Amino acid sequence: MATRHFLTLLDLSPEESRYLIQRAISIKNGLMTQGPTYTPFANRTLAMIFEKSSTRTRVSFETAMAQFGGHALFLSPRDTQLGRGEPIGDTARVLAEMVDIVMIRTFSHQGLEEYASASRVPVINALTDDYHPCQLLADVMTWTELRGTIRGRTAVWIGDGNNMCHSWINAARQFDFQLRVVCPEGYEPRQDILDAAGDRVTIHRNPQTAVDGADLVTTDVWASMGQEEEQTKRESDFAGFQVTESLLDRAADDVLFLHCLPAHRGEEISETLLDDPRAVVWQEAGNRLHAQKALIEFLLLGRVEA
Ligand code: CP
Ligand code: NVA
Repeated sequence: MATRHFLTLLDLSPEESRYLIQRAISIKNGLMTQGPTYTPFANRTLAMIFEKSSTRTRVSFETAMAQFGGHALFLSPRDTQLGRGEPIGDTARVLAEMVDIVMIRTFSHQGLEEYASASRVPVINALTDDYHPCQLLADVMTWTELRGTIRGRTAVWIGDGNNMCHSWINAARQFDFQLRVVCPEGYEPRQDILDAAGDRVTIHRNPQTAVDGADLVTTDVWASMGQEEEQTKRESDFAGFQVTESLLDRAADDVLFLHCLPAHRGEEISETLLDDPRAVVWQEAGNRLHAQKALIEFLLLGRVEA
């Protein structure tokens, strides 16, 4: 059987995506009630290649493997041969001889695809310039825990048409909800990703009107990793796109606010937004652990009936 990878949300079928969310909730409940007693991956190893910084992704993957009874290995280009020019495909072949599964955070999505095509063990996208699918598993899980199915609901993305936005667009396809993307001109998501989503996703310019009646509002930093030099220009281009408590007041009464974090308080969100009860970002961050456990389990074992 061909090795399954998780490079974007579209690598799963919609049905598998829904399974994964339910399985993540079930794994979380098991952890909460019984502690880390579910250890299906004793002596198994996850290699984690990080070419960009991380707090949540590293801690959640490493903790997931520890709780599963296995081991996670942190690899950075600074102190591996990757940083000295060893070809990606060669690294993929070597690691597959030793580890069971690989997670990569890198710049180029094409580079990730190249790695995966040479890997006979599963590869997980832990963020590229184009996508951040693991975050969306945690985000949809959080919504599902708090509000039930996201199918047919309306989410609003406010800000840059970046990697997170692209994954939200793919999530709208996989989980069948409406997504309004509100961005300044020149910061739209990629047209091909947008086109593939059809009329589920619409582009807007005015955050005030776009959030009217929305069930879920989300945003992200204005300058992503690798775009640090554009910070000042982006701060001015994104003026008026800050998510505030009063903006959320225009949404549905039971609206939830999500942010993948890290957040820049005073930029894309008001200083106090994360303290608002509608913001559920700590639960969202914690769910990275449980969603990725379900993902690792699925890629290594397939479906597990609880
Ligand atoms: N949301 C997220 O991926 O956070 P880190 O960059 O800290 O991993
Ligand atoms: N868009 C952000 C997400 C960080 C988790 C970035 O790529 O830096």
